[in-house]
Amino acid sequence: MQEFRIEDANQYVGKEVTMKGWLYNKRSSGKIKFLLVRDGSGIMQCIVFKNNVSPEKFELAEKIGLETSLSITGIVKEEPRAIGGYEMDVKDFEVYQEVNDYPITKKEHGIEFLMEHRHLWIRSKKQHAILRIRHEIIKACRDFFDMNGYTLVDTPIFTPNACEGTTTLFETKYFDTSAYLTQSGQLYNEATAAAFGKVYCFGPTFRAEKSKTRRHLMEFWMVEPEIAWANLNDVMDVAEDFITFIVKRVLDNRKKELETLERDISKLEKIEKPFPRITYEEAVKILKEKNVDFKDGDDFGGTDETVISESFDKPVMVHRYPINIKAFYMQPDPENENLALCVDVLAPEGYGEIIGGGQRIDNYDLLLKKIKEHNLPEEAFKWYLDIRKYGTFPHGGFGMGIERCVAWICGIKHVRETIAFPRMLHKIYP
Ligand code: 4AD
Ligand code: MG
Repeated sequence: MQEFRIEDANQYVGKEVTMKGWLYNKRSSGKIKFLLVRDGSGIMQCIVFKNNVSPEKFELAEKIGLETSLSITGIVKEEPRAIGGYEMDVKDFEVYQEVNDYPITKKEHGIEFLMEHRHLWIRSKKQHAILRIRHEIIKACRDFFDMNGYTLVDTPIFTPNACEGTTTLFETKYFDTSAYLTQSGQLYNEATAAAFGKVYCFGPTFRAEKSKTRRHLMEFWMVEPEIAWANLNDVMDVAEDFITFIVKRVLDNRKKELETLERDISKLEKIEKPFPRITYEEAVKILKEKNVDFKDGDDFGGTDETVISESFDKPVMVHRYPINIKAFYMQPDPENENLALCVDVLAPEGYGEIIGGGQRIDNYDLLLKKIKEHNLPEEAFKWYLDIRKYGTFPHGGFGMGIERCVAWICGIKHVRETIAFPRMLHKIYP
């Protein structure tokens, strides 16, 4: 193991350290070789002077290729012009494995090639920055709920029933019967909310999405709070606080990575409460004003969401969609039964939906009617109906897709770069 981390170089100025890592880049100028070494926490320029090492070592420094693994010893110095602000005067180094044919070179590669080499591509600077921001976002999600009285209750991956419609289910064998991979932990959250009041679950979710878009993965991570006694407005209040908290956390802790991605930080600095709240009808009006070909009553497609979200510089909360285009569990609006008390949060800059949620049906008879209308197997939902039989309560919550949130905050186009090993339509390698 190694004790020293490039990220902590400021604590080691003037000291001799041994660093283990991989050759990220190199250049040479006569009697000096500059080895750029990365250790997972950062990149450091290591300077090999011809006179400081043996002739064989100096030659080796010339020979080794990108991603050679090595251990390198020297004195840490402050150097504002160097990448990361510190560099190393090398005393000696040992090569663990010399590499001379690393497939990803400094030239441009096509996306097909990079995705085939995803297991190596994640070592590059930009991918590294994205995945670190992803980690920060996940940590922020957990901290937000942990600090606000929510209990984390994990929900199952193998499920007997659908949550988000039957068209995107992944079916799998389960001994002598079949099961589905979970589309959302929500239904179980509703049961645990009755036990703990405020809960969240956080895990992988699965959707056999037949469409190939920049927003859809087959396997994605979702964080889902569920709150007893919450109505739609409460749900929107929580979503707004939650997103604001996450963005601030990334700005506070991952500015360097945002800069690596050349993210326009001023756009993220605008993310403050309150977020605009508009009805589905008002969102449709925006589309009409912008001459988008859209049929009133339909669900928004990716491009519709892009157009709506481009009209705001903060996330916009679109509520009260037609109930017939939404999931079976949505509470109807008492003022207009054709509308659902639901909300989608659309991220700005054209990113579109990152959160979906709302208030759930809490009446037994109405829920049973909806299950039948949606042609869902009543038997599999018996336990879910029980929640409305034994001390029913108004409640609501939402789910946020981590990858969509990462794409927006990082300012990258496609969700395939927001998870280490994306599962995409017909693609499961590596
Ligand atoms: O809007 P969705 O389908 O809502 C639910 O699953 C609710 N049961 C959540 C709840 O209320 N507890 O999905 C929620 C979010 C979307 O807003 C989006 O961010 C993400 O999950 N999402 C996907 N992300 C990547 N690839 C996909 N195929 C996604 N489908 C949904
Ligand atoms: Mg949705």
